[in-house]
Amino acid sequence: MLVKWMGITDANSAGFIHGGTVMKLCDEAAGLAAVRHSHSRVVTAAVDRMTFLDPVFVGDLLTLTARVNAVWRTSMEVGVRVDAENPRTGESRHTGSAYFTMVALDEDGQPTSVPDVRIEDEVQERRAREAQVRRANRLAERDELRAGRGQS
Ligand SMILES: CC(C)(COP(=O)(O)OP(=O)(O)OC[C@H]1O[C@@H](n2cnc3c(N)ncnc32)[C@H](O)[C@@H]1OP(=O)(O)O)[C@@H](O)C(=O)NCCC(=O)NCCS
Repeated sequence: MLVKWMGITDANSAGFIHGGTVMKLCDEAAGLAAVRHSHSRVVTAAVDRMTFLDPVFVGDLLTLTARVNAVWRTSMEVGVRVDAENPRTGESRHTGSAYFTMVALDEDGQPTSVPDVRIEDEVQERRAREAQVRRANRLAERDELRAGRGQS
């Protein structure tokens, strides 16, 4: 979990926090979750989806909760949930979600295998199942685009 208070330098002139600021924090939270899971260094291979549900404002306290949803051979999907709290009122809103594919690297910078993720309840089972759908879609899209360019 990553917690950050949103300051004036994170915002536009209307007081809205830049989407890119939130994305960077999501990437950091996802990276930390992936490092903790794999016990190796990781790189971001892809961002599948970043959804902004509600604006974030200057003064909000942002909490980013990252979980490894599924693991394949060297890659893993990390889901990140973003919540923004107005510290004066205590009101909290779910403001966004994102899915990152992180790849574990060995000492030589080559992709290396990642330990399995433990599935302990129905929610984790659903997250792993949905991660599998996103991966299948992503790979199918990549193959189709490559085929359209005459690449193998
Ligand atoms: C990610 C990276 C290590 C993959 O290297 P590669 O030579 O394609 O390695 P591989 O073919 O062995 O693939 C390794 C894993 O990455 C996954 N992968 C590769 N490209 C991917 C993509 N575009 N989207 C999602 N996953 C991808 C593969 O599916 C594979 O996962 P698996 O082992 O669990 O099946 C390499 O492309 C890289 O270093 N990219 C730059 C990363 C970076 O700098 N990130 C920060 C950006 S600012």
